[in-house]
Order: sequence, then structure tokens, then C-alpha cells
Amino acid sequence: MHHSLWLDQYNMKGFPELNNDLEVDILVVGGGITGITSALLLVEEGFKVAIVEKFKLMHGTTGHTTAKVTIQHGIVYQDLIKRFGVNNTQLYVDSNIKAHELIKENIKTLEIDCDYEEVTSFIYTQKTNKLKKIENEYKAALKLNIDSFLTDQLKLPFDVKGAIGFKNQAHFNVTKYLHKLIEEFDRNDDSYIFEHSKVMKVTEEDDKCISYLDNGVKVKSRFVVMASHYPVNCTYNMYFSKLKPSITYLIAAKHHVPLDNGDYINVEKPTRSLRTQVYHDDRLLLIAGENHQTGHKSDNLSHFDNLEIFGREYFKIEKPLYRFSTQDYYTFDKLPYIGRLNLKSPHIIVATGYKKWGMTTSHVAAILARDLITNKKTAYEDLYDPIRLSDKINCKYFMYNLKSIKCFITDRIKSKEREFDVEKGMGKVVSYKGKKYGVYKDDEGKTYIVDVVCPHLKCILSFNPDHKTYDCPCHGSRFTYKGKYIDGPSIKDLKRINFKDIN
Ligand SMILES: Cc1cc2nc3c(=O)[nH]c(=O)nc-3n(C[C@H](O)[C@H](O)[C@H](O)COP(=O)(O)OP(=O)(O)OC[C@H]3O[C@@H](n4cnc5c(N)ncnc54)[C@H](O)[C@@H]3O)c2cc1C
Ligand code: FES
Repeated sequence: MHHSLWLDQYNMKGFPELNNDLEVDILVVGGGITGITSALLLVEEGFKVAIVEKFKLMHGTTGHTTAKVTIQHGIVYQDLIKRFGVNNTQLYVDSNIKAHELIKENIKTLEIDCDYEEVTSFIYTQKTNKLKKIENEYKAALKLNIDSFLTDQLKLPFDVKGAIGFKNQAHFNVTKYLHKLIEEFDRNDDSYIFEHSKVMKVTEEDDKCISYLDNGVKVKSRFVVMASHYPVNCTYNMYFSKLKPSITYLIAAKHHVPLDNGDYINVEKPTRSLRTQVYHDDRLLLIAGENHQTGHKSDNLSHFDNLEIFGREYFKIEKPLYRFSTQDYYTFDKLPYIGRLNLKSPHIIVATGYKKWGMTTSHVAAILARDLITNKKTAYEDLYDPIRLSDKINCKYFMYNLKSIKCFITDRIKSKEREFDVEKGMGKVVSYKGKKYGVYKDDEGKTYIVDVVCPHLKCILSFNPDHKTYDCPCHGSRFTYKGKYIDGPSIKDLKRINFKDIN
């Protein structure tokens, strides 16, 4: 069994660690689709640019996506119009169309063979009571001049009550696409790429940014583009309180019931997102879904198994060749945060909160970051401003933060397992002498014990059996079973524990 379909086809050379202090015009923190696209646009403007990646390029959320390239971001436009009006929502649409144009232009000018296919994107429902949502989204799309249509004639192997289609959308192989962008960036004399180099803190003083790495190295730069998915060291803006993390699971398998080439996603729960992907001389069916808030597992069945059951029932899939999953962040007003960190740090630019639609949004971010840095007039600056208020004047914002406080309290009191014994390939949280520990046994029988108090704000982590990670139910920090930080506000690793030390 492989992990990500995209990373399995990733054969990029490695890049060195950053071991000496460095001075550049722009430091890009994070080597996902946002960081790579921003870095290329900025080096093309003549800046000296470095990308610093804590692990390997593209191995974050970008390497675990469904890679639909679309401005159909779920049911979104009726809500955006209600909250921000038609003109502002039109800016959202236009910026994402411009982003899609940039992807197409890159594919054309760099001659990228990345299985890019233009398709129609559909949102469908199998429930009569969700039809109104589809119709309202269609009305919103018409107001925004989106080339769209209503239909109840989807060629899907189950009953569909209605759907909205957006024409001229696409999907691609994201790692093949970015591979070429990295090569193009790397060809410049003024470009640097470092892997296995983790930024712990970024400060800004007297118009200079200083980024501190975990090995003591410092990078000075005029600007920092924070393309790290969760913004590093941003307590001032309380990002943990305004970004809601949500995990999605994906499988890719050969299938014996065909799916017309298109992108499909339903309105109701559980989410089912479908597309196919060229795979050698065949096509694989990608099924994504089972979304849930990070750290809050909804039932005892494996989410991967649920997707497989769905795939077998409707598409006669074979055993999946790939199973992978990752999280993305939602904001409470459905707009991403792209722009200056705050008034005190105008040279630190953040880009996050893409609500699982980062293929185009990352390119919106890259264009906006370039325009802000080069002092160009941009129509989108206010709309995506990370210090806007519309995200907090929102009951979902309060509910989310209340839920986090509740988890902080109840997970401490909840009685948990006391036995350290666990099956091979499984993990759990154990209470022992008043403390909580995470215990995992690998396939060879080696046991790993970690302190499961989240280094961020001390919530108790939970074990995610599908991903073999410890996930924080409060704000979504995630760690491997060995305690290594993956994503989220924590940034620090978990403490590894020897059993003899807790006796
Ligand atoms: C399951 C799933 C399916 C999705 N499907 C789609 C889809 O079909 N279409 C779509 O448009 N979007 C989709 N998305 C959303 C999209 O994949 C993401 O929004 C996008 O990949 C985010 O890219 P990024 O570059 O911002 O973040 P990432 O890809 O996570 O990149 C951030 C990088 O920063 C690095 N980093 C973090 N902290 C540090 C640090 N301190 N120092 C140095 N480096 C650091 C990380 O290691 C990582 O490599 C999906 C998301 C999920 C979760
Ligand atoms: S991420 Fe905030 S307490 Fe864990």
C-alpha cells in the first residue's frame, strides 16, 4: 500500500539543509504550492529569494490533495454574496479565475506535462431537501457571470436529485506541475532552496525581518512570505482561534464502473468528492471525503474503510492502490487570509485558510504577495486582509473557541485507558500516575511513548488510527507517533518518554 498518489510519482532531487546565516530579499517559509508559486513569481521580479522547508518540498498538504483546479469551492457563493455583497464576491471569483489563468500559462510556457484536463465541476445532491441550496448557488453563480448550469442528469451510478455544473474547470497532477516550477525557480542565480530546515520564529524590526531556525541559523530578509500552511509564531494575531482544521481522507483505486471525466462533490454529509486521474495507461478513481474536525474522530470505523465500501458499492473498485489524508484550515467567513500579518509587521505576508480549495487560492496568494511586495495596486487586498473583522463577528467563531475550551477541560477529566499494552500498528492515550501518555506499537513490536499534552496550549491529544498520528482537538496541531511535529500551531515536537522514567 502506498501513501499519496502524487508523492509516489515525485522524484525530485533533494535540497541541502540551511546551516549558515543568510541574507536575501525575500524568505519564503514552506515548500508547498503556495511557497513554490510565490517564490517563482518573486524571483521573476528580480528578487533574491530563498525557500526554507521544514521537511521535503510538496510533502505537506499539497502532496495529499485531490488536485481539482476549480473556482467551484463547494457551496460558497450564496453565502459570500449574503455577507459581502455581489461586488466583493465578484472580486473573489475574478481573483480565482486569474489564478487558474496563471496555472494554464505556466503549463503552456514551461511545457509542463502534468495530466492537466479541462472538465466540468459539479456539486450534486442525493437529497431533495438540499435542492434549494443547489438552486440558490446557481442563482448566485448567474449574478457572478460564472458559466454554469443546473441539471439532474448526471451520469453517476446512484440517484442524483440535482446538480450545478461549472464549465471550463480542471484537474491535474499537482507534483508533476510543481516539479517544473521548482526547476524553473532553481535555474536562477538568485534562488535558494533548503529542505529539513525549520523556522521557529519570525520577527520584524526596522523594516527588516529575521527568521530563526531550529538549528540556530538566522535569515535576514526584507520580506517573509509565510507559506507554511499554519503561520509560524503568530500569537499576536491569534490564528489558532480563527483557523478551524479539518481532515479529509482519500483513496485511489482501479474501478470497473466508469465515471465521466469531471469533478464531482456532494452537498450533504458524509462528503464524497470524485474525480479520475491518468495512471500509466489506465485511469484511477479518486474518492475523497469523511471530513471531520481534526482530533475529533466521528465513529469507530476507519474512514478509509468507509470510502472503500462506497467505492466497491458504486464503482466496483479494486483494492485501493493509495490511501492518504491530510488537513486544511477553514476561516469563519469563508475567505482565506492573504496579506500583511498586522500593522506592526507589514513585511510578513501570510497565506492560509484555503478551506480545501488551495489549487487556485495558492495562486491568488502568490499573485497578491508579489503585488504587495512590488507595491502594485491590487483590487483584492482588503477582501483577503488577515486583520479584517468579518471572520470574528460570527457565531461560528465563538462556538469553535468554546468547543476548544470544553475539550481542554473534559479531556483532562475523562478517564482513559491505564494499560500500556497495545496491538501492533495501533496507538492510544493512557492515563498513568496522573499524567497522559501516548503509546504506539509499530509493526515490529517496538513501543513508542510520548507526552500527549499539546505543546501549544496544553490540550490532550487524541490518537488518529487511520493516520497513526496524535491530533489536537483544540486547534489541530498534529504529530507523528514518534512525536514529530507535522502541522498546526504547536511547532514544537512532543517529548519522547522512556517507560522507566515514569515509574
Ligand atoms: C484532503 C484534501 C483534499 C484537497 N483537495 C483539493 C482540491 O481538489 N482542490 C483544491 O483546490 N484544493 C484542495 N485541497 C486544498 C489544498 O490541497 C491546500 O489548500 C493546499 O495544498 C495548501 O498548500 P500550502 O502550500 O498553503 O500548504 P502546504 O502544502 O501544507 O505547504 C506548507 C509547507 O510549509 C512547511 N512548513 C510548515 N511549517 C514550517 C516551518 N516552521 N518552517 C519551514 N517549513 C514549514 C510544511 O512542511 C509544508 O511543506 C485539499 C485539501 C485537503 C486536506
Ligand atoms: S493546537 Fe492548541 S492546544 Fe493543541
